[in-house]
Amino acid sequence: MSKTVKVKTIRQASSYTIHIGSGTLAAIADRITAAGIHPRRVAIISNPTVFELYGHEVSVKVRRAGYKSFSHLIGDGEKYKNQRTLDQILMFLASSGFSRTDLVIALGGGVVGDVAGFAASVYLRGIPLIQIPTTLLSMIDSSVGGKTGINMAHGKNLVGTFYQPAAVVIDTNVLATLPGREITAGFCEAIKQGAIGGKRLFNLTEDVISTGLNHPDLEGFLAEHVKFKASIVAGDERETAGNSSPRSRKILNFGHTFAHAIEKLTKYRRFKHGEAVGHGIIFAANLSKKLELIPEDEVKLLNDVVHRSGRLPTLHGLDPSEILETFNFDKKNIGSSLQWVLLGGIGKPMIVDGTRIPRPILKKTISKILND
Ligand SMILES: NC(=O)c1ccc[n+]([C@@H]2O[C@H](COP(=O)([O-])OP(=O)(O)OC[C@H]3O[C@@H](n4cnc5c(N)ncnc54)[C@H](O)[C@@H]3O)[C@@H](O)[C@H]2O)c1
Ligand SMILES: [Zn+2]
Repeated sequence: MSKTVKVKTIRQASSYTIHIGSGTLAAIADRITAAGIHPRRVAIISNPTVFELYGHEVSVKVRRAGYKSFSHLIGDGEKYKNQRTLDQILMFLASSGFSRTDLVIALGGGVVGDVAGFAASVYLRGIPLIQIPTTLLSMIDSSVGGKTGINMAHGKNLVGTFYQPAAVVIDTNVLATLPGREITAGFCEAIKQGAIGGKRLFNLTEDVISTGLNHPDLEGFLAEHVKFKASIVAGDERETAGNSSPRSRKILNFGHTFAHAIEKLTKYRRFKHGEAVGHGIIFAANLSKKLELIPEDEVKLLNDVVHRSGRLPTLHGLDPSEILETFNFDKKNIGSSLQWVLLGGIGKPMIVDGTRIPRPILKKTISKILND
């Protein structure tokens, strides 16, 4: 059974559909028509790994539907989410004669989605974009919400736009080729969304993690995650700084302050982002416990589910005081104070100003996590 989720966008005063099912790639031409796009040219932006697996199928379907199909491959990996890659995509679109009514398809994980989405948003001040996310993380997270962007030497995602796609096409079949660590990374982001979203989403996530990706209601699981992410984004489309309501888009950063610190300290080499978030969830849960916000059994549950999602690279060798210092560089800083996303229980996110958390408590929590 395939599923669709309709997402309303406030800023662009429109809506788009997210199609979720097994074999949805085969119907890409119908999705283009249904999105109200009538391109002459279609650019498939991907990377060599994903294009090798799924590029042919998408190109053939696009061509058979009568569109002129082009493809442009970017390097595989976060280090290619940069200005050079963006330039190359823009040059490719211009030199291939793309007009404002033509279409960009981003076929790949979050890296392809972010940079191809950025290119689509600025080329001719915006041309239609369809996202085909191929990692678990990009299906439940990065393809929904309209954030696009690239990294700079000064930091990640420093330049970008908010730009909504015309449609998102999620084909569960592509998960069959996804490497194990990428699945764990995606599951950790799913646990994060469940933890802030509520017991129902959390329990469903726990169930899928226990069963694996052959879970009978994998599509329902993806649909619930997409709906949750879309609901948060709808209330706070542009992540308004200073908005510290428990429904603010900032709650999506649960587990991320610690994750960003350990990613930075290990030079983005040891952990996949989602794996770092796995450790970050455990940290934020323990910090919430130290501040007497969350019951002990829920901390244990979060810890268990994170560990059931797969084996996380160890925290071994990290220096507690360096972690503490690195928290201050987290981009969720407003002015000088760090905003922590903590939990009052499953489904009860809270935004807590960093000045309200005593340093000794942070220190103790870091030591506990490093020694567990
Ligand atoms: N825009 C947003 O709101 C948002 C949200 C979260 C993350 N992100 C961004 O997403 C990026 C991470 O995305 P990601 O985790 O998808 O990583 P990724 O795009 O690097 O993909 C991970 C790896 O999996 C491979 N791959 C992808 N699909 C595959 C498939 N079906 N079979 C086999 N291999 C496959 C890729 O080639 C890559 O090597 C980061 O740059 C992050 O900043 C953006
Ligand atoms: Zn994340």
